[in-house]
Amino acid sequence: MLSVLALLAALGLGAFWLLSAPVPLTAADLPAHTGDPARGEVLYHASGCHSCHLPGPELTGVDALIPAGNAPLKTPVGTLYPPNLTPDPDTGLGNWTDLEFVNAMQRGIGKSGHNLIPAFPYTSYAHMTREDVIDIRAYLATLPAVKNPPRMHDMALEPIVRRGLGLWKRVGLDTTITQDDPTQPAAWNRGRYLVNGPGHCNECHTPRTLIMTSDLSKYLAGGPHPEGDGKVPSLRGLIERGRYKDANDIKLALQNGELLGYDKLSSGGMGKVQSNISKLPDADVGAIAEYLASLK
Ligand code: HEC
Ligand code: HEC
Repeated sequence: MLSVLALLAALGLGAFWLLSAPVPLTAADLPAHTGDPARGEVLYHASGCHSCHLPGPELTGVDALIPAGNAPLKTPVGTLYPPNLTPDPDTGLGNWTDLEFVNAMQRGIGKSGHNLIPAFPYTSYAHMTREDVIDIRAYLATLPAVKNPPRMHDMALEPIVRRGLGLWKRVGLDTTITQDDPTQPAAWNRGRYLVNGPGHCNECHTPRTLIMTSDLSKYLAGGPHPEGDGKVPSLRGLIERGRYKDANDIKLALQNGELLGYDKLSSGGMGKVQSNISKLPDADVGAIAEYLASLK
């Protein structure tokens, strides 16, 4: 009897081990594309990389705008320290290949093959084109290298959680690259792409299911804040509900926030998002606004 139980347990563990293994992209999945740092800079801001990868408070003498990493990020699984994204070869991304970078950004797989915690919103970045991801990497490579070794996350059962994430990704990671809808204007399509992919607006503005995937039946309809306190407002019916006059009003709000007296754009991480969006070309902010205005 005991041996049967032991056998079943071993089989269960074996199945868990197989099903939770990371499934990386291979070199054949990458386009022949040379990264364009200027395009990458725009996408870097649209993606909000700096909001999480900023230098930690103990790192002195480093420009606060450089994503040298290790600032604490509170999450439901503990306090994480998003690592150094500068080109330092030992402690940053200097030694990473494009393939390794794309696997982190779109499959949630780290350089040594482990599953990454989805507080890093690869669940959204997976919807970007590979070219755009490679462009972000090209931009990061132009930044000054800062030596800042990774800091251990403050989370329980980290190795087990990481392995278990492989299982979760089988249902929780949708890797469809956003395609244009030919019946819609180019700006609307650009806006939808920026919102769903780089902008990862879903990660906060769409509520989650019991298994922590985005509940797309309530797409951008608001919900509890994923990082803890308070609520995230709905992005649907912004005009119908009288929050904004029209798409141009939404655009001005995203570009200026509190400076022009717009409220509901400052707390709970949205302040950082707004300041990143304000760095985008005018047409891109207009595209995001046009798309949001279409959500009834
Ligand atoms: C909401 C916060 C957040 C945002 C936004 C974010 N990251 Fe991260 N990132 C993290 C966290 C947390 C980790 C650590 C994940 C882990 O340890 O499993 C991480 C890990 C990474 C890693 C893996 C590094 C390593 O050494 O394993 C890369 C690469 C990375 N992020 C790049 C980016 C880029 C590029 C962007 C913007 C396109 C970005 N991140 C945006 C939170 C974020
Ligand atoms: C880190 C979580 C987070 C992310 C990511 C995020 N938001 Fe927000 N957003 C919030 C919170 C929280 C508020 C409410 C802020 C407040 O009350 O000051 C908000 C408010 C807003 C508002 C104002 C809504 C209103 O009723 O006036 C708009 C517009 C908005 N976000 C758009 C976006 C867009 C577009 C994106 C993606 C590019 C995005 N947000 C990504 C958390 C987030």
